[in-house]
Amino acid sequence: MIYGERIRLRAIERRDLPFFVQWLNDPEVYRTLYVRFPLSLEEEEKWFAEVMQTHPAERPLAIEVREESDWKLIGNCRLFKIDWINASAELGIFIGDKSYWNQGYGSEAVFLLCRHAFETLNLHRVYLHVYEFNRRAIRAYEKCGFVLEGRLRQARYSEGKYHDVLILSILRPEWEQRRK
Ligand SMILES: CC(C)(COP(=O)(O)OP(=O)(O)OC[C@H]1O[C@@H](n2cnc3c(N)ncnc32)[C@H](O)[C@@H]1OP(=O)(O)O)[C@@H](O)C(=O)NCCC(=O)NCCS
Repeated sequence: MIYGERIRLRAIERRDLPFFVQWLNDPEVYRTLYVRFPLSLEEEEKWFAEVMQTHPAERPLAIEVREESDWKLIGNCRLFKIDWINASAELGIFIGDKSYWNQGYGSEAVFLLCRHAFETLNLHRVYLHVYEFNRRAIRAYEKCGFVLEGRLRQARYSEGKYHDVLILSILRPEWEQRRK
């Protein structure tokens, strides 16, 4: 497991799936994600079977918060599209339990994933896509050192409008500089 100050990242389990389905059907959660259609447990089980076939480094990790002597599941995060030759990976995250938003858990999870990417997997670049209107996520990524790399103009259509999709990234030298 990957331990932080207040959270830990652990392998996802089949028992987590009903929570993911509940959260990914919540409009406030999915409006900032790639998800577009109502999601069933059956589809989520199919997704689980698929991700368990991927390289262990690409499998999603459950985000759990320490609560007294126990751990509470609040979402998941992941490095994916790992390109081992160019040493690059994409990052994705969601905290599904909205009562845990805005308390620094998202940025802590992003920090832990970056530490894992740079200091364990020996990657050089971590990047992500984020909708321009997702100010909370952008702030959380910036707190971890991500910078704006590019803009896909009007690449996302949702809620009756086109939105720009931003690409943010952090390079290993930038990570090391921040760690000093
Ligand atoms: C995006 C997400 C992972 C961030 O996690 P989080 O725990 O809520 O974020 P944090 O508390 O670590 O950081 C959020 C920051 O944004 C700030 N913020 C919140 N709403 C904001 C807004 N409308 N405009 C600007 N900043 C905002 C917070 O104040 C905080 O900054 P601060 O610590 O300097 O005060 C989480 O909110 C989430 O999962 N949302 C739904 C799914 C999603 O959007 N995933 C990302 C897809 S790219």
